[in-house]
Amino acid sequence: NILIVDFGSQVTQLIARRVREAGVYCEVHPFNNLGDKLETLKPKGVILSGGPASVTDDMAPEIHPDIWALDVPVFGICYGQQAMCMSLGGKVEGGDHREFGRADVEITAPCPLFEGVWEVGQKYPVWMSHGDRVVDIPEGFVVKGKSPGAPFALIADEAKKRFAVQFHPEVVHTPDGAKLISNFVHKICGCDNSWTMAAYREMAIERIREEVGDAKVICGLSGGVDSSVAAVLIHEAIGDQLTCIFVDHGLLRMNEAEEVVTLFRDHYNIPLVHVDAEDTFMGELDGKSDPEEKRKIIGRLFIETFEEEAKKVGGAEFLAQGTLYPDVIESVSFTGGPSVTIKSHHNVGGLPEKMNLKLVEPLRELFKDEVRELGRELGLPDSFVGRHPFPGPGLAIRCPGGINKEKADILRKADAIYLDEIRKSGQYDKIWQAFAVLLPVQTVGVMGDGRTYEFVCALRAVTSVDGMTADFYHYDMEFLGRTATRIINEVKGINRVVYDVTSKPPGTIEWE
Ligand code: XMP
Repeated sequence: NILIVDFGSQVTQLIARRVREAGVYCEVHPFNNLGDKLETLKPKGVILSGGPASVTDDMAPEIHPDIWALDVPVFGICYGQQAMCMSLGGKVEGGDHREFGRADVEITAPCPLFEGVWEVGQKYPVWMSHGDRVVDIPEGFVVKGKSPGAPFALIADEAKKRFAVQFHPEVVHTPDGAKLISNFVHKICGCDNSWTMAAYREMAIERIREEVGDAKVICGLSGGVDSSVAAVLIHEAIGDQLTCIFVDHGLLRMNEAEEVVTLFRDHYNIPLVHVDAEDTFMGELDGKSDPEEKRKIIGRLFIETFEEEAKKVGGAEFLAQGTLYPDVIESVSFTGGPSVTIKSHHNVGGLPEKMNLKLVEPLRELFKDEVRELGRELGLPDSFVGRHPFPGPGLAIRCPGGINKEKADILRKADAIYLDEIRKSGQYDKIWQAFAVLLPVQTVGVMGDGRTYEFVCALRAVTSVDGMTADFYHYDMEFLGRTATRIINEVKGINRVVYDVTSKPPGTIEWE
């Protein structure tokens, strides 16, 4: 196991991803709340992340002394390097040493951190992003590499197994960074490759059995990857003690509801309640155009419907949720100030505590790509596991200005054609998310000899790593033209198609 101490960097999670990709389990915890993790996790090594603070500030985050007392290898990255130097008797200067972007490190002495990867006397590209820099290193440390802006770009105290770099090995812009992290966890900390999804599956099943005993579990299934994987895994552990409830709000994509029912009920034999609640949802959404109001109505109705069905199932002690590791990682807060709500999110996971059920969350240690891998391991079809994300409120937030059944049907058809063209052209896996939006605007067109006055359909496609930021996807014009023609010809109610070229920020991915 590896412990990652978070000093608040935007990319701390990437360190965890690189460690996991190297086949080693790790956890991220904030520098100021390590709790009993040092005892319970028993880490074989510690990685100190970067962070936005300056070690020259009075309130600068510090390394907890118990970490040194562990006497295991420590690897400091960026702020982690500076904090390490301050803590061990080196010197760091603030101010005029800002360095952002690509730099070349020149390797000046051999080091186990880059053994087999980098050679002495050569230069290698790395990614820098720092304001302060180390100007004097602690006793016992030796310089192993330097860059024009950072004379101590790479330092090590080999006897004590302490290593530190000014650059960011966790980002893809440091091409050899993953190998350095792999060297640290394997060669230096002595971890083995035991973190695989096959091993996780066995362990998780054992744990679910222990946790749940012979109690009943209910699980809200949405058709999304997370709840699907959680359901299949739990079913494998406890069989028919699990009942899934699928609240079908009528706002799903084309054929999605049927696919969910077929896969879970017929293929996996999981007891599944399919609640057709389309009329209830459409009824309450009727005439509502405010995005937040729509989101709140859907969230509330979902919970009411789910509770009602759960009561009918009866006797459940546990509620299964597809919570993922990024939702569990406690974030580092320096200010504690409130952040602005852009959208109130609705998830299957958003069920209230008043249901008075204990939670089973078998995915809480996993990143999204690990969940996908686990899904494949459990035999879920690729078309399911590799699916683009789909928001809880579904098509309702892709119909600005109000939704009804007629509009949902038009949108569903356009969306299906769009996705079909994307798949046929082999672009589906290059895109984070693609969907059609039905605008509440009618425009004039001409088809045959007649005048048309129909709705505008907007197409959206973005690339992203985590949905937090996104770029619009660059199609070729042929593709867009072909898709627009098909949508206009095949979907009655749409006579014009436009493409959204807004990135996030300033746009969001969904339109509402
Ligand atoms: P935005 O539109 O905020 O979306 O850029 C970021 C990602 O979140 C998805 N999204 C949601 N997912 N419940 C969800 O489960 C929601 O209420 C919700 N709203 C947005 C969105 O599809 C994108 O992947």
